[in-house]
Amino acid sequence: MPEPTGHRWLRWPASTPEPRLAFGADYNPEQWPSDVWPEDVRAMREAGVNIVTVAVFAWARLQPGAGQWTFGWLDEVMDLLHDSGIAVDLATATASPPAWLTRAHPEILPVNRLGETLWPGGRQHWRPTSPVFRTHALALVDKLAHRYAHHPALASWHISNELGCHNLYDYSDDAAAAFRLWLRARYETLDALNHAWGTAFWSQRYGDWAEILPPRLAASYPNPTQQLDFKRFSSDALRDYLCAERDLLRGITPQVPITTNFMVMGETSGMNYAQWAAELDFVSNDHYTWPGPHAVSELQFSANLTGNLAGGRPWFLMEHSTSAVNWQPVNVPKKPGEMARDSLSHVAHGADAVCFFQWRASVAGAEKYHSAMLPHAGTDSAVFQSVVQLGQSLAALASVAGSLRKPAPVAILFDWESWWASQQDSHPTEWLRYRQEALDWYVALQQAGLRADVIPAGAALHGYRLVIAPVLHVTPPALAARLSSYVDDGGHLVTTYFSGIVDGNDHIITGGYPGGLRDLLGIRIEEMAPLLDGESVSLDNGTTATMWTDRMEVVDPAVKVLARYASGEQAGRPAITHRPVGGGSASYVSTRLGPAGLAPVVGELAGFAGLVSDLPRSARGRVELAVRRTDTEEFWFLINLTDEPVPADGIDGEVLVPAGARNTAEGLALAPRGVVVLRKPSP
Ligand code: GLA
Ligand code: GLA
Repeated sequence: MPEPTGHRWLRWPASTPEPRLAFGADYNPEQWPSDVWPEDVRAMREAGVNIVTVAVFAWARLQPGAGQWTFGWLDEVMDLLHDSGIAVDLATATASPPAWLTRAHPEILPVNRLGETLWPGGRQHWRPTSPVFRTHALALVDKLAHRYAHHPALASWHISNELGCHNLYDYSDDAAAAFRLWLRARYETLDALNHAWGTAFWSQRYGDWAEILPPRLAASYPNPTQQLDFKRFSSDALRDYLCAERDLLRGITPQVPITTNFMVMGETSGMNYAQWAAELDFVSNDHYTWPGPHAVSELQFSANLTGNLAGGRPWFLMEHSTSAVNWQPVNVPKKPGEMARDSLSHVAHGADAVCFFQWRASVAGAEKYHSAMLPHAGTDSAVFQSVVQLGQSLAALASVAGSLRKPAPVAILFDWESWWASQQDSHPTEWLRYRQEALDWYVALQQAGLRADVIPAGAALHGYRLVIAPVLHVTPPALAARLSSYVDDGGHLVTTYFSGIVDGNDHIITGGYPGGLRDLLGIRIEEMAPLLDGESVSLDNGTTATMWTDRMEVVDPAVKVLARYASGEQAGRPAITHRPVGGGSASYVSTRLGPAGLAPVVGELAGFAGLVSDLPRSARGRVELAVRRTDTEEFWFLINLTDEPVPADGIDGEVLVPAGARNTAEGLALAPRGVVVLRKPSP
């Protein structure tokens, strides 16, 4: 994986004490009369806020009409913040175009796959490939960059906002033209494109580039490779836009680091962040939890992946929420302790900044029911008090700033191409969820008390004793070869159902599944046999499986069957296999087991790889351990996943958080949803 180009962290104003973790929020002063601003800044200081993101949705305020610019209010806000020792992550304000622009140029509005225009009235209504939009957006960026280039509050540039949140898939004529250019660069000839897209099928052959379109609403399933390429293209188009803003900024303010906020969370899949991270000076992420059985683990999984996208270096949590959001079907407030646990979980996985959407809760607009650091109730509120406390905890953790993630012994491979390709239409089942399978493994490892890194598929594998590659559906020869040599070098690899099935063109690798990994695994599958919704089968290790089974045979006599199907059509056949290869091994899990069903598998794999938990028995399954390190010290973050107190004995180290807690002979007591951070010398 390429490293972030500059990997430069925030440019802090000289007045702020060092070292420090960043703490703050999106601050939208344009929503308030100016006499509220000094009050905001006073409360920010009370909370320990040291950075805010300003101007994310301020385009209409900064440029009320073509050729009209109003920067006075922002000058005032920047000065006010700086005078109070608060740094600014300044947004380029291009996320949402003003009404005068879309009126003058309706051709910048995105079009969905049905050919419907997405009209103004919400936000982010612009085509990623629109040359007209780009011209106007870059003019704004140019103005902003020149005006604030030397402002002492300016700590970083924040390009646009959550690129792709609403406008990722645009099917307009601009998109069609840009898609064709992208395809020409990828394939060079129409013959190569016709081969890659398999256009002999259904009479889809192209004789002219101009015939090619985005996969608009069609009479039947659009060509799968066309769909996959459109996903690749759409991610690349936004990255290209990101780079256009970045290059302009670099030319004007080479001294100011640049970021944009990713959305590594939940089912947000469209941006291949493994290919974006290297474009930035530092990685930022936004994360919101969904209520559910493994919500905290999902947060940790996302933070973990973000930390590895950042190459193990510090990253910036740009947004999360102090309490409820406004955009889920039911928006539940956070329980006591939950906000601090969420925040410190991000820090545990490498965040050096903890920020929220937003500073002051709006009274108007679509997000008026979204929580904030300063709620409608004001400073006299439990939310604000917990914000103040969090500020104190982050101050107590100042020595963590700048430390790196300590690599784990286990890696979960995360591959955007496989995510996209495995969930396309006209497949064996529509119930497959790529990210859920990866998360299930993460939870199973957490339950076993084993630390794991969630890493992009291009990252280096050596150093990991166990690599888990769930649903590694797309296996071009180079990736299959990397996995093979990892195993030949003594690594332990495990992969699952629907892995090794297609090449980079989404063409089946024939001769029996999983064609791309068949020899490595020593197995052969004649037919995939998904289960109906609600159907389940049992395995002879006592676990229950759903969603998928394979009609599998063992080919290599060295392969050991770890579990067989005990019921259903595959009863008696292998379900989980293990092929020893020198000092390493290659294992295969042919069905969906969920975290509980994966527990015995993880136990066996840990045994093969010689892994033992760093956690005492009392804490395993109830506590997540994440470790950061410097050359001389380690920081152990122990995060209580449960709503009950959890005892943890036998872990040494000086307690940094919570304030006043002591690590006694009886061990540590983790409060419900509590987090303890220990500092100790490097081993
Ligand atoms: C996203 C956006 C913010 C805000 C939050 C609400 O993260 O970037 O502007 O809309 O969602 O949760
Ligand atoms: C129909 C069509 C065939 C094929 C099958 C698939 O019968 O005529 O071309 O698509 O469906 O089930």
